[in-house]
This record gives sequence, structure tokens and C-alpha cells, in this order.
Amino acid sequence: MLFLCNILLTGVPGTGKTTIGKRLSKRLKLPFFKLGDIALKKRFVKYFDEYHQSWIIDIDALKEYINSFLSRSTKCFLIECFYCDIIEPHHVSKIIVLRTHPLILLERLKKRNWPEHKINENILAEALGSITYDMLSFFQKEKIFEIDTSQCRIDECVTLAYKIITSNEKKFLDSYNAGRIDWLSDERVLFLIEKI
Ligand SMILES: Nc1ncnc2c1ncn2[C@@H]1O[C@H](COP(=O)(O)OP(=O)(O)O)[C@@H](O)[C@H]1O
Ligand SMILES: [Mg+2]
Repeated sequence: MLFLCNILLTGVPGTGKTTIGKRLSKRLKLPFFKLGDIALKKRFVKYFDEYHQSWIIDIDALKEYINSFLSRSTKCFLIECFYCDIIEPHHVSKIIVLRTHPLILLERLKKRNWPEHKINENILAEALGSITYDMLSFFQKEKIFEIDTSQCRIDECVTLAYKIITSNEKKFLDSYNAGRIDWLSDERVLFLIEKI
């Protein structure tokens, strides 16, 4: 692939990557896949981590595979990823980080049959903006956008993501550029993370 085209959709679990990604891929007419599914399908896993109830991914193997796959591909994709920073920046046109207010995220994650410590780790990661921080350390800031899914219904979030991906309008894009969402200035969030 000689030009930039792939879109990454990231965020901590429960922020809506899969829900929004499936609908967004139809709107964009881009095939959608989850990087995590590729890791499992291709068996790029090291072992099952009982404590976190999740597979530990062989990052090096997945990184080599996905970058080689994207280099050979003639199509563009919408990719849900958790370890997005293994995808070389030259393959990526825009990155959408889904954010969710930690109190709302807590309600969403409580519905998953997860151990409490796993829920708490993800709440803390969201409160601190860890994924945005990781993306900013790897990709150009201009390519990274954040959507607060606590502020839009699912269909509205899909429409907003679609606009961000397809727009070239600087003023509009600037208002969604990464680094604007700060949960730590909300006292309720500080109280929540003190307890966990
Ligand atoms: N505005 C919203 N945007 C995205 N998901 C939402 C929203 N409001 C509620 N949800 C719910 O939150 C959950 C998000 O789960 P999921 O899409 O699996 O997230 P992820 O793939 O990031 O783990 C779904 O049950 C979805 O219905
Ligand atoms: Mg998902």
C-alpha cells in the first residue's frame, strides 16, 4: 500500500470499539477486523494469564505479521486494536481513541463477568488517559482524535467518528484532537480512583 489509508479504533475495554466499529465500517465501506482476533486466529499468543483472564499476546510475532499484511494489502481497513502502537505509522491515516467517563465505564464493565481487579485496572487506565498517552508517544498528534462516548448515543458516536475520518476541515478536526479530555479534573473521578 503506497498511500495512507487504514483507520485505527482504540480505547480501553468497554469504551465501544466493537459496537461502534461494526457500524462505522458499514458507513465507511471499509472492512473491519480486531487485531486481537488475528492474534488468536494465528496463535500469536504466549500463554493464558489466569489473573487477568486473558491471553498474553506474542507482540513481536503479531507486529511482524500485521505490518507485512498491511504492506501487501491493496485494501484499506478499519482496525480495532488495543496494542495499536505495533502498527507502523506509515500504514495509518487516522486514529480514533474512544473515551468514556470512568463512572459510566464502571457501569459498562460491571456487566462483564470480570474479576474486580481487572475492572479496576481498566478504570484507572481510562481515568489517567493511558491509551491516548501511548498513542501520542507513537503517532503524530495531528492523526489522533478522541471521542467521548459518554456524551453521544451509539449512532451519534458513529456519525461523529465518520465525520472525523472523512473530514479535512482543520477547525472541526482541531476540536477533537487528542489531549482535550481530562477526567482527573472531575472530583468524582478522583474519589473513585482513591477507592480502587
Ligand atoms: N455511546 C456509546 N458508545 C459505545 N458503546 C456504548 C455507548 N453507550 C453504551 N454503550 C455500550 O457499551 C458497551 C461497549 O462494549 P464494546 O463495544 O464491546 O466495547 P469494546 O470493544 O471497546 O470493549 C456495549 O454494550 C454498548 O452497547
Ligand atoms: Mg471489542
